[in-house]
Amino acid sequence: MKVLGIETSCDETAAGVVEDGRRLLSNAVLSSMDLHKAYGGVVPEIAARSHIEAINPVINQSLEAAQCTWEDIDAIAVTYGAGLGGCLLVGVLTARTLALIHNKPLYASNHVEGHVYANFLTEASPTLSALYALPSTIPSFPMLGLIVSGGHSQLVLWKDHFDYRLLGQTVDDAIGEAFDKVAKILGLPYPGGPSVAQAAKSGNPLAYDFPKAKVAGKYDFSFSGPKTAVLRAAQALIGQDHSFPSHQLPGRLSEAQKADIAASFQRIAIETVVDKTVMAYREFGPVSVVIGGGVAASPELRRQLAERLPIQIEYTDPKLCTDNGAMIATLGCYQVMHGRAQANPMELDIQPNLSM
Ligand code: KG4
Ligand code: ZN
Repeated sequence: MKVLGIETSCDETAAGVVEDGRRLLSNAVLSSMDLHKAYGGVVPEIAARSHIEAINPVINQSLEAAQCTWEDIDAIAVTYGAGLGGCLLVGVLTARTLALIHNKPLYASNHVEGHVYANFLTEASPTLSALYALPSTIPSFPMLGLIVSGGHSQLVLWKDHFDYRLLGQTVDDAIGEAFDKVAKILGLPYPGGPSVAQAAKSGNPLAYDFPKAKVAGKYDFSFSGPKTAVLRAAQALIGQDHSFPSHQLPGRLSEAQKADIAASFQRIAIETVVDKTVMAYREFGPVSVVIGGGVAASPELRRQLAERLPIQIEYTDPKLCTDNGAMIATLGCYQVMHGRAQANPMELDIQPNLSM
């Protein structure tokens, strides 16, 4: 069974084909990230317009790379939320149209669930197997999932497929968003996760003791406080108070100061999610732990989890952590295999605020 997955919730126009929920046949991704760099973050209108231009070529590329014709595709899965409204619309309307034209069952997929299902890919076609480092076994239940991206920071406990409970989530900024904002304060390029990680390599992670935010919910997170602490520390370093404009900071901080701030922030931000993941592991005793979302590509996150969790995690390839179509195709396969309800191709609507 082969499913085509379509993903357009943010700045990646993506389509992938997955077989039986475990075999990666293609993963075509075109990012409009370069267009957003000048603004230090994703501009929704620019992203939506880019999706319109890219969606058909990306889908065709994913079918071609998978060596599939429409005949070979058994179902279409599309991200219908959460995400940017104008961006989701392009993917959903495209999927609805293709489902009608080619007479294929249509499935509405949750973006955040998709990030987790990227971990269920354990095989790849001969052309892709050298390009993707995949786990050797599929995760077992109960499964604890940590989803950390530009839009989400959530801890979720799965009893079984489609039977899960949200343990906690961020009460303000997502962790990736905090990385992006800190990068902007330091004058590092967007996206902030990789650029903060790069700067952190030459910094001292103990140089600053940024506070870890305290939140009421046992498994909730907060990242807005640490981000503001970075801003205040940077202003204080150059002898200025909180009224000093943040856009003038990069020009006044030395490379060594930026590296120390990057390393210290990265340590605290990652520790925040690892602390609660370890706590949830102890309370619920899951058989497997998986991570998903762009920040799951972070080597520092992988290092801290490996150090502090008593079980080994088999991490998936970083290319499957950031937004992609293969994760939606994988989730789509499980939706088909578990008899989940099909979407009506005449009616499927977007849900920008879809939660877990
Ligand atoms: O999952 P994703 O591609 O899009 C959303 O659903 O949000 O995640 C994007 C986020 C960005 O905030 C980016 O800074 C972060 O993931 N990110 C990383 C890395 N690669 C991307 N953060 C830390 N380390 C990375 N290598
Ligand atoms: Zn995402």
